[in-house]
Amino acid sequence: MKIVRTITEMQEQMQKLKSEGKTIGYVPTMGFLHEGHISLMKNARPENDIVVLSIFVNPLQFGPSEDLDAYPRDFDRDHKIAETEGVDFIFYPSAEEMYPGNASVKVSVVERTDVLCGKSRPGHFDGVATVLFKLFNIIQPTRAYFGLKDAQQVAVVDGMIRDFNFPIQLIPVETVREEDGLAKSSRNVYLNHEERIQAVELSKSLKMAKLAIENGERNPDEIVGSMKNHINENTTGTVDYIEIYSYPELERLKTLKGKVIIALAVKFSKARLIDNTILEVE
Ligand code: PAJ
Repeated sequence: MKIVRTITEMQEQMQKLKSEGKTIGYVPTMGFLHEGHISLMKNARPENDIVVLSIFVNPLQFGPSEDLDAYPRDFDRDHKIAETEGVDFIFYPSAEEMYPGNASVKVSVVERTDVLCGKSRPGHFDGVATVLFKLFNIIQPTRAYFGLKDAQQVAVVDGMIRDFNFPIQLIPVETVREEDGLAKSSRNVYLNHEERIQAVELSKSLKMAKLAIENGERNPDEIVGSMKNHINENTTGTVDYIEIYSYPELERLKTLKGKVIIALAVKFSKARLIDNTILEVE
């Protein structure tokens, strides 16, 4: 496995492999790898000749009051995990390498961001799209793997790949969960003991919503209302949002029909957790 820190070397290596007809599977991450990231690598490994993992905590996608400096990092551990998963290249650039000066062009996401995390984290998806625009040009992947835990991110990247004609196949991967149902996240380490126990109620509320839909409920307000009650009654967290939209368009629905996403964000004392479920409603 090779660790590459510069854009020039990464582009050279990738161009060489592509000219030999190799397919490249790409897993973009911010590091501090857990089973969610590992699942992306496990999906990528058998489907591609070469697997590239990037580790870059992207300052552009963090708001001024967010956890950029405190974001957990452990490159040695990540390195070992990548090795075990059969990754061929880790792209591990510095912030100076990625953003050497004032940019003259930035990517601005104009659809699918006025809701969910886009609404509560202004500028976040512009930052995600800008860094991925660069990373896609640096790595030139055949396939790019993204987790559905960040379903809005998948929707935004899907739009960007289509709008800018990136010759990349987007592969969405199911959310990996702890045994009790909590979605795996680098931010789970910020939960205190009590909050960790309560955090199971997030996925439980999504299961309750799914059950209500299976039992015939089609009114999104009813479902959101009972999910809010459940979380307020069973956790010390504060609901940031609980919303239901069509997926991947992320448009409001009066009555549930077709592919829909039920998504939530809850703030605990030091961690804001997100989760969602995507389902087909008849
Ligand atoms: P990061 O939060 O490190 O996540 C990297 C990838 O892992 C994302 O595609 C995310 O959806 C996926 N992932 C995280 N938790 C998961 C889980 N429990 N199950 C399945 N997949 C999971 O998302 C980012 O980084 C950044 O925004 C990035 C795309 C790297 C751009 O900076």
